[in-house]
Amino acid sequence: MFSTIVITGGAGFIGSHVVRLFVNKYPNCHIINLDKLTYAGNLANLKDVEGKPNYEFVKMDICDFDAFYKLIQDKKVDGIIHLAAESHVDRSIKDPFTFARTNVMGTLTLLQAAKLYWESLPEKYEGKRFYHISTDEVYGALQLTNPEGVPAPFSTKASSESQHEAYGKDFFVETTKYNPHSPYSASKASSDHFVRAFHDTYGMPTVVTNCSNNYGPYQFPEKLIPLFINNIRHRKPLPVYGEGLNVRDWLYVEDHARAIDTIFHNGKIAETYNIGGFNEWKNIDIVKVLIQTVDKALDRVKLETTETGETIETYPDMDLITHVTDRLGHDARYAIDSRKLQRELGWEPSLQFEEGIEKTVKWYLDNQEWMDNVTSGDYQKYYENMYSNR
Ligand code: NAD
Ligand code: DAU
Repeated sequence: MFSTIVITGGAGFIGSHVVRLFVNKYPNCHIINLDKLTYAGNLANLKDVEGKPNYEFVKMDICDFDAFYKLIQDKKVDGIIHLAAESHVDRSIKDPFTFARTNVMGTLTLLQAAKLYWESLPEKYEGKRFYHISTDEVYGALQLTNPEGVPAPFSTKASSESQHEAYGKDFFVETTKYNPHSPYSASKASSDHFVRAFHDTYGMPTVVTNCSNNYGPYQFPEKLIPLFINNIRHRKPLPVYGEGLNVRDWLYVEDHARAIDTIFHNGKIAETYNIGGFNEWKNIDIVKVLIQTVDKALDRVKLETTETGETIETYPDMDLITHVTDRLGHDARYAIDSRKLQRELGWEPSLQFEEGIEKTVKWYLDNQEWMDNVTSGDYQKYYENMYSNR
């Protein structure tokens, strides 16, 4: 068992779910949430755990070597779960330097400090672990149709095996060659290489996971799902990039947090595990599901009688869909094969997408104060800069 774990980026979207899970599940383990609190970090994401005796927050930049070295030495840290990053592709296209600094230099800083501290101990790397959270985007992009011409997504309901067979095995696996396209994914790929290099060169006990798109509560509304839920609520245009035909594989964030727990404790050292939902959706279809779910929740659905006398439901907010200029270098399709994780460690997603999206929409509608707080101030400038004249 670990005695003191640092979770970096714990005030962000996925990090806050990981912190909550670990603080509640491991009361005898001291959990340190290390976060710089950038625009994406928000301690309001963790109100329910802030008073727990095994929880501590430390405001720190992962690029600050001296501060991090002192922290892990003072607190005798034996586990590090590294999520802190600049995470938004569109921001990386406008400002790649920040991504190289945080994602590459920040990760290297943590690795080097952990190496020096752990190697100074009599037991060295025994009982230690450095777990790096990465993304499926490092693998590049898949085709929108399989070799037989069947368009993706194959099916959102098929079991992982049947979906895998039917799609012609065109999924990212752990051995897929890295081929990142955006400054974000290039920076994450570089950080993954540094983590593996620290295992291969110094014997550091590392593990890396590459996960697909997450959704759920506490996601900053620069990402598709929370941004669109908020815009539908306020009847603002929904800026769909290009035709909206790009495909993503969506996983409920608590399922990702559970996978991180399983892999941190039981994953093999130096291994890579892919984590995904076997749940592919075209963007435009996700947008329609979001409109239907929000309109139902807000009682906006209209009943219309067709010429044949049939009564049908219509969703007035479908009119908000606005096709805008595509993202530069927009990856066509991501799809993860997570069968290694299922086979070796018994993890699989627990939620069907329909249930997850309903929970997610309900959470954002019920937590308008959270949304109002994160969309005040700089967010308006960000929105203008990213979307006006697009
Ligand atoms: P996020 O943007 O919501 O949160 C990032 C957190 O890191 C914030 O709390 C921020 O304050 C903190 N941070 C940023 N720079 C820092 C620095 N220099 N020092 C200390 N803290 C800093 O990100 P997220 O969506 O929760 O993603 C978390 C991790 O998971 C990232 O590494 C990301 O690449 C990876 N990932 C995300 C997804 C996804 O769908 N969101 C999928 C796969 C992998
Ligand atoms: O695949 C994992 C990755 O998923 C993570 O590594 C990233 O941190 C995370 O941000 C996410 O990246 P995406 O670029 O896929 O997520 P985003 O929510 O930004 O966009 C999802 C899709 O929706 C993508 O095809 C672009 C499109 N989109 C997005 C926004 C914000 C739009 O059409 N309009 C929008 O306004």
